[in-house]
Amino acid sequence: MGESMVTYSAPAKIYLFGEHAVVYNKHAVAVAVNLRTRVSLRRSDRFIYQTDGDTRYIEGALGIFSSLKKIPGLELRVESDIPIGAGLGSSAAVTVATLGALNEEFDAGLGIEEIARLAFEVERSIQGVASPTDTFVSSVGGCVLVPDLTRVTDHLRCSIVIGDTKVVGYTKKLVKDVKELRSRETEILDLIFDTIDRIAVTGLDALSAGDYTRVGELMNINHGLLDAMGVGTSKLSELVYAARSGGALGAKITGAGGGGCIVAICEEKDVGRVVDAIRGRGGGAIVVDVAREGLRRESED
Ligand code: MEV
Repeated sequence: MGESMVTYSAPAKIYLFGEHAVVYNKHAVAVAVNLRTRVSLRRSDRFIYQTDGDTRYIEGALGIFSSLKKIPGLELRVESDIPIGAGLGSSAAVTVATLGALNEEFDAGLGIEEIARLAFEVERSIQGVASPTDTFVSSVGGCVLVPDLTRVTDHLRCSIVIGDTKVVGYTKKLVKDVKELRSRETEILDLIFDTIDRIAVTGLDALSAGDYTRVGELMNINHGLLDAMGVGTSKLSELVYAARSGGALGAKITGAGGGGCIVAICEEKDVGRVVDAIRGRGGGAIVVDVAREGLRRESED
């Protein structure tokens, strides 16, 4: 595709605390990380998509944007560093980046919060129940407190390692499974969600104080509670325990679970050992940084 394309990119995210409970309006802390999805597009008289991922999110973004501006046709290309179905927010990133590029190409004048809101509508229409976490974090970048949707900081003074089980996790099904468990054991699940809420708020204090030992400990407790609500797998736990034995300060599932990824934090000196421990158990290991920028324009290729 040629020079007149406009390209926008948006980042992946990890949860330090609070996935699943956030669907029940509890607090969560999520962090944009520097794995990005890039969407390039230009006007055309036909609709042509080049992507290895799910076109439903692109079509959803086009659908919602069409209520603002008429789109006669489009050539669109997606390139992504974000593993799909891994709980890292790949669908949010492609939705946000598509809306960002459409916004410029069709001169819609949308602000970042509006793009985040529209992207959330797209995710919700496709996934059913969903929280605005992924789409908001991918839009604004940094470290975000949910449901407040405030950006709390844009750096962590520790290293972040993602461990990928390479097994796809199905968010919609996992959210439904948790909902069904809650309908059978409402009081117990609500206590778990309240505890996770407390973990997220306390964890944010620990982050602000720079107490990463405590952040890690709280992540470990959060992992146990995710396991308790039934979204863990033996492979996820294997990678969590491997990361901890490699020196991680804390490690937990990130995202919906059922497969997908774990996230570990550690001191910089221990990154190699944590990576080796995850790989030693057959997991993919990716060392990431906080992405300070959310949605951003990329220079033309
Ligand atoms: C998925 O990455 C996180 C969940 O909490 C669902 C959501 O927040 O939309 C399981």
